[in-house]
Amino acid sequence: MPHRSLEAIFANNRRWADALKAEQPDFFKTLAEQQAPDYLWIGCADSRVPANEIMGLLPGEVFVHRNVANVVVHTDFNCLSVIQYAVDVLKVRHIIVTGHYGCGGVSAALENRTMGLIDNWLRNIKDVYTHHQHLFDHLDSHEACDLLCELNVCEQVDHVCHTTIVQDAWKRGQPLTVHGLVYSLEDGVLHDLSVNVSAMEEIPTIYRMYNDQEIFDRLPSRRRRLPQDPEPS
Ligand code: CO
Repeated sequence: MPHRSLEAIFANNRRWADALKAEQPDFFKTLAEQQAPDYLWIGCADSRVPANEIMGLLPGEVFVHRNVANVVVHTDFNCLSVIQYAVDVLKVRHIIVTGHYGCGGVSAALENRTMGLIDNWLRNIKDVYTHHQHLFDHLDSHEACDLLCELNVCEQVDHVCHTTIVQDAWKRGQPLTVHGLVYSLEDGVLHDLSVNVSAMEEIPTIYRMYNDQEIFDRLPSRRRRLPQDPEPS
């Protein structure tokens, strides 16, 4: 790939902005006033996995958090703040955790070499491997990397669901589904891992921050039947 100067980037930017304005004259003006994305994308920082382009979405349509190997750690205030803002303020309806085959972070986690500070971050992925170690028997290194890319997404979906942010949203009846996808660098295709979590009952009891009765009592259909509730005016 040729090296691009900063001037070339500015020139590209003007062409892109002009083309969008030619198509929709109010595009940037409308967008500057508000964003209302339906999706939060949590993906890898890898330059080959750009959220908007892959999903065919315009600016304003997806809120994005990216880090090395799309990891969600419960003490990462950066990631948690993105999730909180997306869920509580923007009211996104879908959180999409997307991994990708051939992920450098995942493949490094399968090895024993050291690369510096990032080793500590990749330890989270070694944990995913350890949780499912028996599945890796008899796989070659390529197959092992693909499998760990997929399992890593599933585990990070769980982590998103275990946050108080997502559970608070479910508790107040806000529609919110957490999905797991994996992207193929080789053909540009997104694959659904069939991991879709949209309710408290779908996560293990130990991770639930509210008991079933509390949730039940807050369901709109249940509340309508409570005698102390005032009649809607
Ligand atoms: Co990656």
